[in-house]
Amino acid sequence: MTMQKNSTLTLAAPAVLAIALIAGCGGDSGGSGDASEPAATGSDLTSQGAARSGGAPELSIDPALLPEGVTVEMVQEGRDLFNGGGICFTCHTVEATGGPLAPDLTDDVWINVDGEYSSIVELVKTGVPQPVEHLGSMLPRAGMPLTDEQVNAVAAYAYMLSRM
Ligand code: HEC
Repeated sequence: MTMQKNSTLTLAAPAVLAIALIAGCGGDSGGSGDASEPAATGSDLTSQGAARSGGAPELSIDPALLPEGVTVEMVQEGRDLFNGGGICFTCHTVEATGGPLAPDLTDDVWINVDGEYSSIVELVKTGVPQPVEHLGSMLPRAGMPLTDEQVNAVAAYAYMLSRM
């Protein structure tokens, strides 16, 4: 776990770029009927996540539950960031069920925010300098160079975790 942290950081960004480029080029041609690979059917971000997290299942997102301005694609990108370059998983765990370092994000109990999307975006930007119940602290943007767009995506994933 600790040893993996650094390699994940260095590899994540180039991997995202490379896969995004490939997906961008081939995306139009291969639209239909690839029944051999059900977990990665043409959708760029979903297959990307599946590739890097060793076959993570597709998210079952009810679009009706998405907050305003949030898309399914953002939530999927958010999962990749959560478990990759955003390093959220190092404290919240890959399942996002938390532990001694960070709270469970899959339940509907919120200790730092009210659970609304905008409050989660703000929290990711400011971090949690003085946690209520956990050891250590969360740095602004987890200490990573996340763009506002990426913060929105990872916050969208955090928001949807307790709703799917
Ligand atoms: C260094 C460990 C660490 C990392 C990395 C980290 N967090 Fe946290 N996170 C925390 C701690 C600690 C808290 C506050 C818990 C408390 O107050 O007891 C927190 C709180 C939160 C909360 C509020 C939960 C609630 O119940 O109100 C959200 C949402 C959250 N983190 C999302 C993220 C996201 C998204 C990332 C990645 C960009 C991330 N965290 C990275 C440690 C971490």
